[in-house]
Amino acid sequence: MTIPLVARIGVLVLATTAFYGYVGQMVPQSEVQPPEEIAIRADLTTPEMVEIGREIADGKGLCRTCHTIGQSGALRFPDLAGVAGRAAERVPGLSALDYFAQSLYEPDAFVVPGFNPGMPTINRPPIGLTDQEILCVIAYLQSLGGTPTVTLQTSHRYYAAPATPGAAPPGGAPGAPVTTPAAPGAPGAVTPGTTPGAAPDQKPRPGEALPLTGPPGPVPPPGR
Ligand code: HEC
Repeated sequence: MTIPLVARIGVLVLATTAFYGYVGQMVPQSEVQPPEEIAIRADLTTPEMVEIGREIADGKGLCRTCHTIGQSGALRFPDLAGVAGRAAERVPGLSALDYFAQSLYEPDAFVVPGFNPGMPTINRPPIGLTDQEILCVIAYLQSLGGTPTVTLQTSHRYYAAPATPGAAPPGGAPGAPVTTPAAPGAPGAVTPGTTPGAAPDQKPRPGEALPLTGPPGPVPPPGR
């Protein structure tokens, strides 16, 4: 008995399809998950911020694709070990906190001697970290050779934290003068009704990026 050609072709097609289907499902399936969202609660403690900052630096912040920590020799990018100890001396007039903020928001404003510019602006795409994520990264940078002080209520040159009524931002810029309200009428006097503890001539208030005009006092270098 002869099998019709059409039937033979049909069997061959079925066998081939079944074989490839079988091989295909033996290949391990991998599922690609979007990067895990890191929840930043407003009441994070500084040590928690350091931990989150470390995760961001290793992960979505991409810092570790360029930066080493604790390596010496001919490096293309500055090593970040102990960077908190150098930060305050980098740019005259910038506190360690403001220097860290500048190196993330405006990396080309100061280029570390011996290196080429080329660090991406961290609050812009493609990295695009939020102001809160950047505060966590700053807490982490402060932990590299220093003592972290920032909280999510800390303001700096590039970010004005929302005011907490009645509370001065704890752990602000190290060395920032503690302002007591001046006598009424004195230069820089706090107008009645201003939140006690707010430092009108030191810290940008919410809604204004930089105090460009203001009472006599140290005028911060223009930013942005
Ligand atoms: C594409 C590579 C690249 C990435 C990604 C990158 N940086 Fe940088 N970074 C540089 C370069 C280059 C410099 C030196 C030039 C300069 O100062 O702008 C630098 C400088 C710095 C400095 C100053 C160091 C010092 O000794 O004063 C800090 C702090 C810093 N980066 C932190 C970070 C953090 C935090 C991240 C992640 C959020 C990051 N960088 C991501 C390339 C990078």
